[in-house]
Amino acid sequence: SPYLTTDFIGKNYIHKLVIDSTNNLAKEIASNVPDGTVIIAEEQTAGRGRLGRSWISQKGCGIWMSIILKPNIQPQEAINLTQVAAISVVKAIEEVFHVESKIKWPNDIILNNKKVCGILTEMSSEIDKINYVIIGIGVNVNCDNFPEELKGKATSLYLETNSKVDRKKLTASILNNLEFYYNAYLQKGFVYIRPICIEKSITIGRQIKVIANEGEIEGKAVTIDNNGSLVVETKEGKRLSIMSGDVSVRGL
Ligand code: BTN
Repeated sequence: SPYLTTDFIGKNYIHKLVIDSTNNLAKEIASNVPDGTVIIAEEQTAGRGRLGRSWISQKGCGIWMSIILKPNIQPQEAINLTQVAAISVVKAIEEVFHVESKIKWPNDIILNNKKVCGILTEMSSEIDKINYVIIGIGVNVNCDNFPEELKGKATSLYLETNSKVDRKKLTASILNNLEFYYNAYLQKGFVYIRPICIEKSITIGRQIKVIANEGEIEGKAVTIDNNGSLVVETKEGKRLSIMSGDVSVRGL
């Protein structure tokens, strides 16, 4: 693609017409391909979302892709890569569509209160070493219909902005931004991208409910800390840091 200006992300590129899930193929080949390998499919027959959910991935309307990364960081830090990817998608949508989308911590991209993109990060690691991380990104770009049960919750960039763009342009912009913020994160740490995560967060300042390992937590999201954890203040005034979990935001 003439739009791609990266040094390594997307230099090795696999394009499929139909696949079960790009994350599945990524897992199979991750050990044998270079850092930054990207897999893109026109259609997924078994697209996967977080928490065992399925991800609708109709033919030709969205960006269904997985990026294989091999960062030299601790396994517990890999969660930050979801946020690196999320800000990259937000920046790319801004560049291509000139609209501001927001991040529902840690991995949903929201436009006009509806979800336009989800991120599924999966990893293979040993005790203190990552073998690989797979960042699966699904963006509803030109999709114009969603099943009844998703109406009001899911949308596409086309439905929200009324403009149809070349998916290649948005894909390249996501990958260009991803390489920039990924490098910045590796060199300078989460503190460098934290202000952007906070600025683009739709979660901070809202009443939320989190289903975390520790159980169900209700409270107000107050900030994202230096590790990338979401800080929640309960009505008893207790502050808790949540590293991961399923967050529901009141009103979304
Ligand atoms: C979520 O919101 O729950 C995450 C959705 C992630 C979807 C993408 S599409 C490309 C990649 N392959 C998959 O099977 N899932 C991710």
